[in-house]
Formats: sequence, C-alpha cells, structure tokens
Amino acid sequence: MPVKQHAVFRNFFEMDHPLIKHKLTKLRDVSTSKKKFKELVHEITLLMAYEATSDLPLGVEMVRTPLEEFMAPVITGKKPAILPILRAGLGMVDAFLCLLPGARVGHIGMYRDEETLEPKSYFFKIPGNCQSRTVFLLDPMLATGGSAVAAVQKLKEININKIMYVSIISSPEGVTRLSQAHPDIKIFSASLDRELNKDGYILPGLGDAGDRMFGTK
Ligand code: PRP
Ligand code: URA
Repeated sequence: MPVKQHAVFRNFFEMDHPLIKHKLTKLRDVSTSKKKFKELVHEITLLMAYEATSDLPLGVEMVRTPLEEFMAPVITGKKPAILPILRAGLGMVDAFLCLLPGARVGHIGMYRDEETLEPKSYFFKIPGNCQSRTVFLLDPMLATGGSAVAAVQKLKEININKIMYVSIISSPEGVTRLSQAHPDIKIFSASLDRELNKDGYILPGLGDAGDRMFGTK
C-alpha cells in the first residue's frame, strides 16, 4: 500500500493509494448524498485501516492444514481498542471492526465551541485495560487539532500510550499542533489539505463531516 511519510513530521503518514484518492474526491463533492457519504467514509477507512494496523504485534500458533501442522503467524496481545471521537468518528468504526472483529469499542464525546474552536469534552467511556492495548483513535477531520490533542491527552493521563490516530483529512495546522503536542503517536491521513479558513474549516476539505454524515445541517 503506497504511503508517504512526511519529510518534517516523521510521525505523519499520508495515504497515496489511487483508490483512496479517488474515493476521497467523491467524498468531498458537495453533491454526494448522505447515504453515499457514509459508504465512502466506510470504504476509505477500510483501506486506511490496512496501513494503520501494520504495527500490530505478531506471534505464532500451531495450525493444522489438510497436510501438516506448523507454527503460523497470528496477531498477539490484548484485543485492540477502537475509539471514535463523536460524532463523526462513529462513521469509521465499522470499517475497523471488519478487519478487527474482536476489537473493543469505546467512545470519546467532544465538540468544538463554535466561537473559540476549543474542544469541549462531554463523554468518555472506553474499554478496560486500554493501557495494554493498541488504541485506534478515529476522527475524519483533523482541523485546528484541538479535539485530537485533548483526546490524546485524556488517554495519556490514564497511561494509555500506544495510540494510532486516523483521520481522513488533515490540515497543516492540525498536524503541526498534534505532532508537537504528541510526537510519539502515529498519525494516518488520506490527505494533507491546504489550510484552515478563519472559521476553522479545512480547505478544500469536505465541509462539516458530522453534518454530512448524519444529515443535521
Ligand atoms: C469535528 C470533527 C472533529 C473536530 C475537528 O467535530 O469531527 O472532531 O471537528 O476540529 P478540530 O481539529 O479543530 O478540533 P465537531 O466539533 O464539529 O463535532 P461533531 O462531530 O459532533 O459535529
Ligand atoms: N470539522 C469538520 O467537520 N470539518 C472541518 O473542515 C473542520 C472541522
């Protein structure tokens, strides 16, 4: 899977696969319906999840083929945790569960104050023992980075440190802020867009991900 490691932010990985790029273009299109939007988020996340899971630990176990027994590779350790940031991150959960059906799911409720753009936390419920799990933090939009930085901070406060952050679109401002605050986490994104506008929306972006996903505009 083609993936570009950023020249400056070494923890930022941009997906370079033609299928992802094509589907992202459809996702951005203002004429894409709510139904199609959800389907595209699912498909893009599925393709991204392949790359984002590439650090999962492998061990071996005995398997019996029709011909013989041998020690074969299997993912080891505690089941990973999938943590969507509400609301829009919810649209990315099923794709991860397709590939990691045994993963545990938690929810982190956060919204941006429309005036200050600062994140407000309203819900936090995650699976037990996340300290020994790989955690996938999901949110389609990394804009100012406020929500992502706050969510990672909450996890680190309780000693959860193996964190993979997965967004569909990132802004340079968001990547800078998240990388500087938490240089130890990996950030996966389908696109590094141009900039933020004065209202904190990503350009060219796709608009408000939650509103487009749930039809709340
Ligand atoms: C959106 C998005 C991120 C956040 C990103 O959520 O899903 O969580 O904004 O912006 P930031 O990087 O500037 O923090 P929003 O706050 O609109 O909440 P919603 O998903 O409930 O609509
Ligand atoms: N949140 C969104 O949903 N879209 C943006 O462009 C920025 C934040």
